[in-house]
Amino acid sequence: MREEAQGTRDEGRETRDHKRDTKSSIILAKRSSFVHRKIHEPVLLQEVVEFLQLRPGMRVLDGTVGAGGHAKEILHKIGPGGVLIGVDQDPNILEIARTHLGETSGLHLVHENFRHADRVLQQLGIGAVDACLLDLGVSSYQLETAERGFSFQYDAPLDMRMDPTATVSAFDLVNHLSEWEIVSILQRLGQERYAKRIADSLMQSRQKEPIRTTQQLASIVERAIPYHGWSRIHPATRTFQAFRMAVNRELESLEEALPRIVKFLKPGGRICVLSFHSLEDRVVKLFFRRLAAEQQLRLVTKKPLAPSPVEIHQNPRSRSAKLRVAEKC
Ligand SMILES: C[S@@+](CC[C@H](N)C(=O)[O-])C[C@H]1O[C@@H](n2cnc3c(N)ncnc32)[C@H](O)[C@@H]1O
Repeated sequence: MREEAQGTRDEGRETRDHKRDTKSSIILAKRSSFVHRKIHEPVLLQEVVEFLQLRPGMRVLDGTVGAGGHAKEILHKIGPGGVLIGVDQDPNILEIARTHLGETSGLHLVHENFRHADRVLQQLGIGAVDACLLDLGVSSYQLETAERGFSFQYDAPLDMRMDPTATVSAFDLVNHLSEWEIVSILQRLGQERYAKRIADSLMQSRQKEPIRTTQQLASIVERAIPYHGWSRIHPATRTFQAFRMAVNRELESLEEALPRIVKFLKPGGRICVLSFHSLEDRVVKLFFRRLAAEQQLRLVTKKPLAPSPVEIHQNPRSRSAKLRVAEKC
């Protein structure tokens, strides 16, 4: 697996070199109330739009509408006669999308997990869509909103829920899972070689007091990992990524969503999936291959497409992106 940071395209982006004796360089302990929202650059935008073969009047499902970066271009292509169903499990980001995309008659923004995209379409009375996009992971807006607790760059309560109505937060996992469960999460979702050391340190710390903040978690991880093990990424990067994926059950949602969404694709309709983690990409690859073998899907991209060096230079967060495209038979 590639080295991936806490947030999908955002993975690996916190890549400053770290010096052993500069704790302060590791955690820029900004106040949790401080909110700094960076613009979210849509990844592989032109490629996605071309692969979706958008035409005026089409019905398109954007299962991860986020701030509406891809959606804006999709709306432009499908025109006033088209319909765009933009789903996101984060109601806060849907408000940003609403502002960014403006009032458009064919636009439906829905707060829902994309694993229930079929239900959303049914409720809207939409029997089938011409194209679908899933752009996985977290948005820059979420990462840069300190109080959401996604980033070790800000000191904030340990939350990491994309959907604030969900019941389980990072606090719950970090403080209540068994040592073995934590090791398993860190190894599987973070590919963390020091999983056992980190889990052991977490257990010792939480015996004294609950681990409540991102900064506490980052400091514990930092102390647990030997210096020679540090790479160019922050030592807590993998731990944060692993807990975020576990809190939001990201792989499970993807596995459930793909077959449901494909059922709603019209013959000839295309699905584009942008992933930023090798386990996500693997889920997509295996699903597409299985349906291709059953002649339900045709693989449009035999190998996943990656951003160009120019795009990576302009938007470093795109660097772990992989785009896979398939067409309904
Ligand atoms: C990378 S951002 C999408 C960015 C968007 N394409 C743009 O250009 O602005 C991913 C978004 O997907 C949402 N998301 C992640 N998993 C989800 C799920 N299972 N169901 C619904 N939304 C999800 C996140 O809340 C986030 O807003």
